[in-house]
Amino acid sequence: MPNPFDDLTIGGGALAAAANPFRPGMGRIPPDFGGREDALLRARIVVEQLAAAVAPEFVLYRGVRGVGKTALLAYVRQRARELGLATIHVEADRDDTELARATSVLFRGLEDVAAAAPGLSLAGLATVRSGSRGPELAGRADAERFEGLIGDLAELAGRSSRGVLLTIDEVHEAGDVLLGPLLRAAHAAAQDDRPFGVLLSGLPTAAENLFDEGQTYTERLARVDLGLLDRAGTAEAIRRPFDRVAGASVDVAVLDAVHDASGGYPWFVQLWGEALWDLATDPLHIELPVARAAGARVRVRVDDFYATRWRRVPSGRAQLLVQALAEQGGEAAMGDLLEVVDITHQAASPARRSLLDLGICWAPQRGRLAFSVPGFERWVLATRPAEV
Ligand SMILES: Nc1ncnc2c1ncn2[C@@H]1O[C@H](COP(=O)(O)OP(=O)(O)OP(=O)(O)O)[C@@H](O)[C@H]1O
Ligand SMILES: [Mg+2]
Repeated sequence: MPNPFDDLTIGGGALAAAANPFRPGMGRIPPDFGGREDALLRARIVVEQLAAAVAPEFVLYRGVRGVGKTALLAYVRQRARELGLATIHVEADRDDTELARATSVLFRGLEDVAAAAPGLSLAGLATVRSGSRGPELAGRADAERFEGLIGDLAELAGRSSRGVLLTIDEVHEAGDVLLGPLLRAAHAAAQDDRPFGVLLSGLPTAAENLFDEGQTYTERLARVDLGLLDRAGTAEAIRRPFDRVAGASVDVAVLDAVHDASGGYPWFVQLWGEALWDLATDPLHIELPVARAAGARVRVRVDDFYATRWRRVPSGRAQLLVQALAEQGGEAAMGDLLEVVDITHQAASPARRSLLDLGICWAPQRGRLAFSVPGFERWVLATRPAEV
């Protein structure tokens, strides 16, 4: 066998594999965000306001697993840094140490802000003192210090006239322990017009109880729901990278096929894009036969993904609910499901909760349950995994 390093004709598709721009995978920034103009516009305004040292509104992006929340935040941070803003990223965590971890991430962010502005005064801050080797965190490790630290960060953003963008992902994991102090401090900073921005993201019900409680600090928090891509969104996500990176056009029939098969689920759309690129037979035109080959490859990955999801479903009632939901086409009223599985609301409640917490299901409306990924119902019905 010749060595592919020596013989560059080996493995050569019509388009260079190494140049494949598509990015299937958790949190990876796609080459183009299909159908996210509103969500991106909101973020752009926040970033522009921060760059102009103005206090922006806070935005909470919500959506089921795999719709692109993490990627969107990562992209916005990238763009923010290009404009000279400081960025800090926290991934919320369910365990008790969340404040300790979040505190240390924020403090490191504060150190960076201070390091980038030599001579910046740390006088009069609530939790931070000037030590021999730079800022030092003082006081007891508790929620109050956490809140104070956010206030200090915002204060330094104001003093240095350099906007700070904080992004927090997976906020549904964060108890009010984290969100309460965070939003309170951010709200106070906004009232003082500090250039401190907060973008949050999480599953569809993230932070709902804070809104239900009608806390004043939620007034500044805009909610933006991210759903599946519509046909035009899917088309853009596929068409634009081919055009920009390879100067190649993608047949409309291919774009339609990708949308129909992916259901507009962003992660599937990236898998499709990647496969179409790798299997292209003509460097300038992507046509239906390529889509057929790509479809076969994508199906293997997607079936694996469904199987992994199924393995995460707790056995017992949760599995029964999943099967019943699949029978009903992937979305149903809880009442109808319970009739099929013949258990009471109360008995089904923990199972329903676990499906929601795992992100396998979501509640499109009160009293309804739906799978969060398109096509899962078809897979469950076709493979009958509980009987295998
Ligand atoms: N608008 C979009 N158009 C096309 N692809 C996208 C879009 N948004 C995200 N993607 C792709 O979708 C995949 C999933 O993105 P990401 O991991 O950010 O989702 P998520 O909502 O954070 O999921 P989770 O809830 O599991 O953390 C990635 O491969 C990403 O590149
Ligand atoms: Mg994510």
